[in-house]
Amino acid sequence: MAISDFDLVLFGGTGDLAMRKLLPALYARDRARDLVPSARIVCIGRDNKTNEEFLQIVEQNSKPHISSATMDADVWQRFCGRIQYVSLNAKEPATYQNLVAALRNDPAISHVFYLATPPTLFSMICDNLSQAGLATPNARVVLEKPLGHDLESAKDINAQVGRYFSESQIFRIDHYLGKEAVQNLLALRFGNVLFEPLWRREWISDVQITIAEELGVGGRFDYYDTSGALRDMLQNHLLQLLCIVAMEPPVSNSADSVRDEKLKVLRSLKRFTPATLAMNVVRGQYRAGHVNGVAVPGYRKEEDANPDSRTETFVAVKAEIDTWRWAGVPFYLRTGKRMADSLAEIVVRFKSVPHSIFAQSNATPNCLVIRLQPDEGLHMNLMAKTPGDGMRLKPVELELDFREKFKTPRMEAYERLLLDVLRGQLTLFMRSDELEAAWEWVEPILEHWDQEESDPIPYSAGTWGPAAASALIGRDGLQWREEA
Ligand code: BG6
Repeated sequence: MAISDFDLVLFGGTGDLAMRKLLPALYARDRARDLVPSARIVCIGRDNKTNEEFLQIVEQNSKPHISSATMDADVWQRFCGRIQYVSLNAKEPATYQNLVAALRNDPAISHVFYLATPPTLFSMICDNLSQAGLATPNARVVLEKPLGHDLESAKDINAQVGRYFSESQIFRIDHYLGKEAVQNLLALRFGNVLFEPLWRREWISDVQITIAEELGVGGRFDYYDTSGALRDMLQNHLLQLLCIVAMEPPVSNSADSVRDEKLKVLRSLKRFTPATLAMNVVRGQYRAGHVNGVAVPGYRKEEDANPDSRTETFVAVKAEIDTWRWAGVPFYLRTGKRMADSLAEIVVRFKSVPHSIFAQSNATPNCLVIRLQPDEGLHMNLMAKTPGDGMRLKPVELELDFREKFKTPRMEAYERLLLDVLRGQLTLFMRSDELEAAWEWVEPILEHWDQEESDPIPYSAGTWGPAAASALIGRDGLQWREEA
């Protein structure tokens, strides 16, 4: 679908996200000729700066995040020509007049307000946009995570932003939904007949979803310490992946068809009680260790760290979905910083054959691995006969590497999501009820941790997290894939 002319306003236009992700993503789409020549990017900052001064900052802080292979001097010049810096204090209504003056006032031009700011500013910015006459039915607003700190604050954001913008104008970002491999999971599930008949409790024994990072939180301590792995990764990215794995086939790819199905999954997640929490949730915090052979400090010794912090940098959860399709199938979710490897993957393990006709008893059950990062691919484990005399079976892997298969250039998650915002396509964005349902499910965990007196379990940097996470899955006679 073509993109019509727009003025895209980046609140937080001088910030890290704008420099590292948003401007490089827009450059890439400009290079691909997705942006009409007259489209403009208005970057908001508090300081008084000339456009030239701001472009210097973009040159220094954003350009290095664009791969040199895609850097084209003419396109860069064209791209910079679209950028206009506007000084505005989000808390000062009068300064919104600077924005009014900068925007083109033509109903054919969409105004998109991207709020890459702390969520505490969302409501105030929307109030002030409205007072300045900018919250028109034609406008769109994009909300960057964290979308709240708990259920109450998430509801508050929804209510405040909802005073000025209707649901069809609000784009809540979860960048995992923009990843190529997540799109591919939809294609795998709903573009093939092969998996759907097996995609249920009768044939699937368990599902593991892991997002592991080697990175620590150096440099982001202030933000991370008020968040932790549960809020930063599990409440959003991991639950969104779980929804895509577990949802019923939507009627179409339209926004509400997909979001209705995801919502049902979130609402069917079994609620934790204080008794089930202790058994099914593990939180950890990294200590000093070695990642890729390099010594790294523990979480409490990071730059500007609180030496007594009780924030978790690792969380593992055994979740269950109370539906006919999934009853009794455990979904193990885990994420952590400073882990042994950087990877994101979904592992779907099938049940053993119901009856083996072979004497050999060690048949490995089939397993489908959907790899999101670092490479995008599919691995499927099958049993095959080893060549030669006798009937000896051995697990073999079918491998599909998407980069090998499709040589076409990749799109970063933010490129795809920004294009969708500009097109007004909401499928890959969370609806307000989804956001609240996800918070509702994690809320008992947060409350439990608040009341708990013990610290998160320490784990050494460069490992797969606390031993309790292996025990969590071990109790069911299983292992995390990397530990098997
Ligand atoms: C962000 C989190 O949402 O996702 C970060 O705030 C995390 O802490 C990042 O590092 C991971 O995203 P990706 O795309 O690098 O896996």
